[in-house]
Amino acid sequence: MAPVCKTISELLDERRPGHSLPSGLYTRRDVFDADMDVFFGRHWINIGLECDVPEAGDALAIEVGLSSLILLRDDDDRIRVFHNVCRHRGARILDPGPTMVAKLVCPYHQWTYELSGELLHAPHMGVDFDKSCSGLKPINFVSVGGLIYVCLSDTPPADISDLVETMEARLAPYDIRNAKVARQVDVIEEGNWKLTIENNRECYHCSANHPELCVSFIDLDFGYDPAELAEEDREMAVAHQTLYREKTAEWEGAGYQSAAVEHVRDCDTNFRTQRLIIAGAGESQTPDATAASDRLLGSMTRKDLGDTHLWGHNCWNHFMGDHAVTAIVIPLGPDRTLVRTKWLVHKDAVEGVDYDLEKLTSVWIATTDQDADLVARSQAGVSDPAYVPGPYSKFTEQQLDYFATWYVRQMKAHGY
Ligand code: FES
Ligand code: FE
Repeated sequence: MAPVCKTISELLDERRPGHSLPSGLYTRRDVFDADMDVFFGRHWINIGLECDVPEAGDALAIEVGLSSLILLRDDDDRIRVFHNVCRHRGARILDPGPTMVAKLVCPYHQWTYELSGELLHAPHMGVDFDKSCSGLKPINFVSVGGLIYVCLSDTPPADISDLVETMEARLAPYDIRNAKVARQVDVIEEGNWKLTIENNRECYHCSANHPELCVSFIDLDFGYDPAELAEEDREMAVAHQTLYREKTAEWEGAGYQSAAVEHVRDCDTNFRTQRLIIAGAGESQTPDATAASDRLLGSMTRKDLGDTHLWGHNCWNHFMGDHAVTAIVIPLGPDRTLVRTKWLVHKDAVEGVDYDLEKLTSVWIATTDQDADLVARSQAGVSDPAYVPGPYSKFTEQQLDYFATWYVRQMKAHGY
């Protein structure tokens, strides 16, 4: 007898609170297609940065599932986002990746668009052809302090305003809009995008797997079981929490919003932010926790303002005095996920003079490679017939429970 295949709805119903997801939700092609529809087609997703296109005429084509998007800066210095679909017979106009353009010219029959999206020239279409109805289709987008969020749906979730409201003030001193991308690294993780996100939302695995990151990152910040700590470690943990309260009060007193904001449960747009303490020298996520760039970001004058972290359902970011690290997650298949990491510095910072690229990038290059290995291991395990969903730690993996619960709820809300 052929095995009976459960519906996606049945798989969603099977998910037990406090536990990881049923195997099929990480492995099946139909679930992947549903995820792309719901989480990458009908939610706001982070696709890049204003400073990916710093000059008029800079353009970047980014593929998200079956869609391709053009992010560009037009002749009036305005950011635009269009579907990369020619209005003639649909050909892709730009290849994936960055380019510079005076106009957008479709390679097929040379329909030519202004950077505003307006159709300028359509050869041999006749004098009565109305070009005004055939401009490039714009995509809804919002710049959150310089991070570009798009929604491919015509009815985007309204609560993106909560993200904007929370982050604009927090990001203003870093002036991410006018930063410079010092380096970009793409890593393809051999795992489902939800495993990539789950892995990023806990630091349970940090001490055993991320020696470089742990110089500056404090795993206790993402939870611990007090009963398991030795007496002196427990005292350290309590002292750390006291330090948090003091630091947060000091930072907020100086005008830098720092307290945690969690928007991860009863919401459409999923995000969390908090200003975290950097360990050791306390300045930056580098091999010795000192700043990698002497030229600080934006209007920052202090290196001791910690790490403003921001999670979304397809991104994570760390904003520090001297630089920022941003990462976006784009699913490529049920078991393949692109993680695109960028390191940002002040636009006038000069490599080799103000910053050392190796020092700037080495911690997150190592961390991302280590995480790629962990995600591949997880994918192999959840694909094994022996896998049964396991319990999340209520101390260290509470955020994963929130994420899995949000995932199931959003899937159901969109009819799955
Ligand atoms: Fe673009 Fe024909 S498909 S010009
Ligand atoms: Fe990790």
